[in-house]
Amino acid sequence: MERENFGSKVGAILAAAGSAVGLGNVWRFPIETGQNGGAAFIIIYVLCIIALGLPIMISEFLIGRYTHANTAGAFRIVSNGSPWKWVGRLGVFTGWFILCYYSVVGAWTMHYTFLSVTNAFYEVPAQEYGNIFEQFVSNPWIPTLWLLVFIGVIHYVITRGVQSGIEKSAKLMMPTLFVITVFLAVCSVMLPGASEGIQFLLKPDWSKVTSATVLQAMGQAFYSLSLAMGCLCTYASYFDKKTPLAKSAINVAFIDTVIAIMAGFIIFPSVFNIGMNPNEVGVGAGLTFISLPNVFQQALGDGTFLAVIFSSLFYFLLFVAALTSAISLHEVATAYVTEEFGMSRKKGATIVTAVILVLGVLCSLSFGPLSHITLLDRNIFSMFDDFSGMVLLPIGGMLISIFAGWVLDRKLYRDEISNGGDLKTPYFKLLVFSLRYIAPIAISLVFLDQIGLFNIFK
Ligand code: PFF
Repeated sequence: MERENFGSKVGAILAAAGSAVGLGNVWRFPIETGQNGGAAFIIIYVLCIIALGLPIMISEFLIGRYTHANTAGAFRIVSNGSPWKWVGRLGVFTGWFILCYYSVVGAWTMHYTFLSVTNAFYEVPAQEYGNIFEQFVSNPWIPTLWLLVFIGVIHYVITRGVQSGIEKSAKLMMPTLFVITVFLAVCSVMLPGASEGIQFLLKPDWSKVTSATVLQAMGQAFYSLSLAMGCLCTYASYFDKKTPLAKSAINVAFIDTVIAIMAGFIIFPSVFNIGMNPNEVGVGAGLTFISLPNVFQQALGDGTFLAVIFSSLFYFLLFVAALTSAISLHEVATAYVTEEFGMSRKKGATIVTAVILVLGVLCSLSFGPLSHITLLDRNIFSMFDDFSGMVLLPIGGMLISIFAGWVLDRKLYRDEISNGGDLKTPYFKLLVFSLRYIAPIAISLVFLDQIGLFNIFK
């Protein structure tokens, strides 16, 4: 069967950027930055991207494009049948697994867009937002219905194929996402008191930087760039031979970082405008679905047209960001099932969707009817979240860097990265050095820290 490629370089970069730009950019990066030394944190974050994010991203791109195969197939080819082939399978599993809980949050963003558009936050007292969220997520039906819609949209895009589905949607959604982000950031920084918010976000404070901060920046860089879950490898398998790999990786990392910083410009000026303590806004779901709807209502005028527009666009932005990331995760699994088991794209995608539906519904219901099912004090959703983020991702990242640095044929690496000698690669030695030493050591430290073993050193 003829394998599709992306139709253009721009389309390929936008698709990969769509994978990278996701919920992590909005609900984690800005608050981490504000609390960990502002510009100082951003500098460390960018250094982490350069030192280990880019080398791993370039390696994933390279393996995908060289083999033109799904991630499991790609690693099977480059590992020449050695046990390293399991790294690809691990990536597929991780991506598929993450999608189950990621879709649940994607569904929540749809519901909050709906609530914003219908002005449902009008005259809601500040302390009520927590209850609204609790009631929503514990309801057995509403989040599940939104989940069906969210997964339905992903399924539709994936079944349309690489060019008419993934690439076309990325070309539409990424510029939309960018325009909305700029619009919201501009509105927010024009609010009275905004400068304090900008200071909170950007003022460098090196005294807040500790070894824990550095680990946090590394973990965030890793997740934000969508590394180690097969996404970039799978997308790169649709790159044509002329796509410059290093340059594309830099573009993707740049877009991802700019959007993450701009998300901070949306959030903190509004938070300071209403005189709220930025250290109390929370992180993740608490920040996004409890603190921020209240912040936006108060900052822009309760129930006003501006508040409705601002809040609706903000949740729509999150929806688009989550959707493009979710599509990339789905494609990892779809390409795997389709190619490894020799079935049509439609059939492969349907199997992937069916699995996500079942596991996604379980994750979704774990805030309500299934909340009694717990393991290590976590409900099903948190098990998926923590197991993938704390265990699967670091292990995958470490194995990819070790494989690319120590095992993969050096000449093959050089040929691919220089597009057969067409491009200059003055950074090659540094890249290999990072893959061999910096990345594996850094990722092991993040891993030990996340599972709690590293605390002894603090
Ligand atoms: N990079 C996305 C984010 O920052 O939210 C999350 C994500 C998407 C992780 C796709 C992994 C992935 F494969």
